[in-house]
Amino acid sequence: MPELILTEIDHVAIAVNDLDAAIGWYAETFGATVDHRETVESDGVEEALLKVADSYVQLLTPTNDTSPVAKYLANKGEGLHHIGYRVDDCAAALEAVKASGGRVIDEAPRPGSRGTTVAFVHPKTSFGTLIELVQE
Ligand code: CO
Repeated sequence: MPELILTEIDHVAIAVNDLDAAIGWYAETFGATVDHRETVESDGVEEALLKVADSYVQLLTPTNDTSPVAKYLANKGEGLHHIGYRVDDCAAALEAVKASGGRVIDEAPRPGSRGTTVAFVHPKTSFGTLIELVQE
């Protein structure tokens, strides 16, 4: 068994149709406010990060019809989209997934939001959950 690679839940990402409506609901219901908001054109998403202790709730909405999140919403509707696990070394964590025979979406780490470095692991490997490895 390897040493623990996951250091924190970085974020829980939820796909929504109306970002402002979702932000409003989290604010009015739980008092959760937006810590960071960003459009990531390369991923075709706009996201809002609501800080909860040392982690985030990430509300995600597509910015165009070909975005993977647009396809997700069309197929599955709103809901849990992926989990972001914080790691010290994204490249090493990705190699650990590959070494265990896992299927990855990103062959190499790439830039994520908030200046992070990220890589996605295919849900077929990780028991139905899309995983994002996040290095701060
Ligand atoms: Co994410």
